[in-house]
Amino acid sequence: PPNLQMVEEDLGLERVNCRAKGASSGFKVAILGAAGGIGQPLAMLMKMNPLVSLLHLYDVVNAPGVTADISHMDTSAVVRGFLGQQQLEDALIGMDLVIIPAGVPRKPGMTRDDLFNINAGIVKTICEAIAKCCPKAIVNIISNPVNSTVPIAAEVFKKAGVFDPKRVLGVTMLDVVRANTFVAEIMGLDPREVDVPVVGGHAGVTILPLLSQVKPSCSFTQKEIDYLTDRIQNGGTEVVEAKAGAGSATLSMMLASRALRGDAAVVHCAYVASEVTELPFFASKVRLGRNGVEEIYPLGPLNEYERAGLEKAKKELAGSIQKGVSFLRVTE
Ligand code: NAD
Ligand code: LMR
Repeated sequence: PPNLQMVEEDLGLERVNCRAKGASSGFKVAILGAAGGIGQPLAMLMKMNPLVSLLHLYDVVNAPGVTADISHMDTSAVVRGFLGQQQLEDALIGMDLVIIPAGVPRKPGMTRDDLFNINAGIVKTICEAIAKCCPKAIVNIISNPVNSTVPIAAEVFKKAGVFDPKRVLGVTMLDVVRANTFVAEIMGLDPREVDVPVVGGHAGVTILPLLSQVKPSCSFTQKEIDYLTDRIQNGGTEVVEAKAGAGSATLSMMLASRALRGDAAVVHCAYVASEVTELPFFASKVRLGRNGVEEIYPLGPLNEYERAGLEKAKKELAGSIQKGVSFLRVTE
């Protein structure tokens, strides 16, 4: 196959490279795991985003193909591909935002925690490179189990002396997207007008929808609350089972990438280092800005059902956080 860089130079297209090098305004974004089910459509969305000036696509397989494909889109972001661990650092240098969907997805019958053994090491290695090459980047972690991979990232950054709690976010927006859709379905509303806060974490009972705080204000029967809570907590499993071994949710995840828009003053739910509860990490509504998390909002008033759910969520979350934190000690 032709060496793309040589062809560009032969054709006098070095201006593209200059543009890539000089892309001073706009976000420089790296997607790690860019050739995967999430990575590819996420790369497309980022290439369509006028706020993005430079897009680095890194994977251990198929990065050149995805890069060639995405780079033909007639939008302004310059796209560069990086293949294999020897190119990981090059993929990260100068990045403002690093999005990590690298790793393996669930198959039917698995929990997200069953992915820990493979994905924990992948996230650790990637975060060590981030700490070295772009320690000030905002890091969005999609790889599961998010409840543990975010604490792993934080530990790696702490060890390297570069941890900024405002800049490390676990992506849980998909739970909100699902909750909005399911509530809209049963209430006969337009999902775009519904906003359900979903707090806690991103697995099973740690996914805690606050149905008492839904906007517009809705009143649910206990049967509806039980149905909605169960469906929102098991939305990921619903997709994993329907895909029957061919992966987990990817396309609805793309809607969740609204959280990565980069607009000023966007309020979304994310799993972050937090003092909202006694746990060191918790998902709740946060205000995002150019520097990451600018404000973490309190949970607001909970009803008795939600308070019971919160206790269950915290119990499981505490174990997942501890597992992530001790992973570094175990591996060193
Ligand atoms: P996928 O298998 O389709 O893609 C994963 C990609 O990661 C592949 O291209 C693979 O080559 C790459 N990869 C593997 N090891 C790597 C490494 N060391 N460095 C860089 N890239 C590597 O899976 P997917 O459907 O895209 O899901 C990816 C992850 O996201 C899974 O862990 C899944 O559970 C998780 N997920 C999270 C959410 C969320 O809301 N947080 C939603 C959906 C999926
Ligand atoms: C989801 O919620 O869809 C993702 O976390 C993927 C999964 O394994 O459920």
